[in-house]
Amino acid sequence: MSSTEHLAYIVESADEATTARTAQRLAQCAGLQYASITLHGDLGAGKTTWVRYLLRALGVAGRIKSPTYAVLESYEAPAAPHWPQGLAVSHFDFYRFTDPREWIDAGFRELFAAPGLKLVEWPEKAQGTLPTPDLSLHLQALPDDHRRMTFQSHTKAGAALLQRLKEAPLAAP
Ligand SMILES: Nc1ncnc2c1ncn2[C@@H]1O[C@H](COP(=O)(O)OP(=O)(O)O)[C@@H](O)[C@H]1O
Ligand SMILES: [Mg+2]
Repeated sequence: MSSTEHLAYIVESADEATTARTAQRLAQCAGLQYASITLHGDLGAGKTTWVRYLLRALGVAGRIKSPTYAVLESYEAPAAPHWPQGLAVSHFDFYRFTDPREWIDAGFRELFAAPGLKLVEWPEKAQGTLPTPDLSLHLQALPDDHRRMTFQSHTKAGAALLQRLKEAPLAAP
């Protein structure tokens, strides 16, 4: 990967509607069906909220639970032009995760190797057992319920996806 030029995309100050719009824009991007995205930030920074906006934008209906207790919640988004077979989404939260062997036993390694979108809260708690993500998103709380959003690519596929996000038009408000 050393020759890959990595990208960053920073939204300096996003209110919740703007946070939602970045998720809606990403939901239109080809390559999402193979991507893994880690989410970083303090409790309450908005990681789960952003995932909910993304899942809704992908057409997932019904309740979207935080996976804090279950570690993993799985979804199947309906077919769309970029994923005509539908899109499997795995939403992880490793906040309560202690034993990396659990990870292997639970078959998460296979899940990461399979196609589908992987969204990971608290990857730090998985203690280096996770593959390099394609993208990371850091959320930082600012005054007045705003957030600084920092997207960074870590793989070639992630750089391509982030370039598409930068170019994605703003969804209708
Ligand atoms: N600009 C914003 N972007 C995202 N969430 C926001 C924003 N402003 C306020 N919020 C609120 O902050 C809370 C974030 O909670 P949550 O997504 O569960 O955090 P985390 O998963 O990072 O612990 C939600 O209640 C959300 O409505
Ligand atoms: Mg959360």
